[in-house]
Amino acid sequence: MQRLTTARCFAAVTARRPGSASVRSFTGAALILFSAAALAVEPGPDTGRRVYHAQCASCHGGRGEGAPDWKQPDDQGEMPAPPHDREGHTWKHADGMLYRIVKNGWRDPFNKTQRLTMPAFGQTLSPAEIRAVIDYLETLWTPEQRRFQEEESRREPYPPEAQRAPGPVPTQPRDKEQ
Ligand code: HEC
Repeated sequence: MQRLTTARCFAAVTARRPGSASVRSFTGAALILFSAAALAVEPGPDTGRRVYHAQCASCHGGRGEGAPDWKQPDDQGEMPAPPHDREGHTWKHADGMLYRIVKNGWRDPFNKTQRLTMPAFGQTLSPAEIRAVIDYLETLWTPEQRRFQEEESRREPYPPEAQRAPGPVPTQPRDKEQ
């Protein structure tokens, strides 16, 4: 596909203007094509942002601002979803810990109920998607918070299953679109 497009592009330039100018524009076109391909496979903040809005924003808020009154237990004695932005405390946790919370779910030990109020996403999201959404949360923090969290993450990094591999972010097969 990539090679086909490049070849077609090359044919188009050379057909119009043979000579050194066409070589220059071919190099330019090829460079643009190759960098576009590189961007497409990088699991960047766009993947994380997409996952966040699809899976997390309903509880944690569209801008990561958390549920209203998130500091107080609700009527059932459960802690509501906290913010992920600079007002919250997500930034105090290392990558490895955040990864575990998202994969396996979490509940405050002092909640009056036993259910996981923070649902487990290990069946819904691939390791690369979990990592991408955490990397996205990191864009919501101050530079100081990011530095602190980076230091913590040196001691407790992402697990090997979430280490970055070249190529597109693999998605978990889903029974139904959420
Ligand atoms: C159904 C609501 C709900 C959804 C959806 C949800 N969460 Fe949560 N999340 C919670 C609740 C409630 C807590 C607080 C649990 C507690 O401390 O008792 C929480 C806690 C967390 C924490 C711990 C924060 C801290 O500061 O300790 C992280 C990290 C987190 N969620 C990330 C995510 C991510 C990422 C997603 C999307 C992939 C997500 N959550 C989707 C409800 C939700």
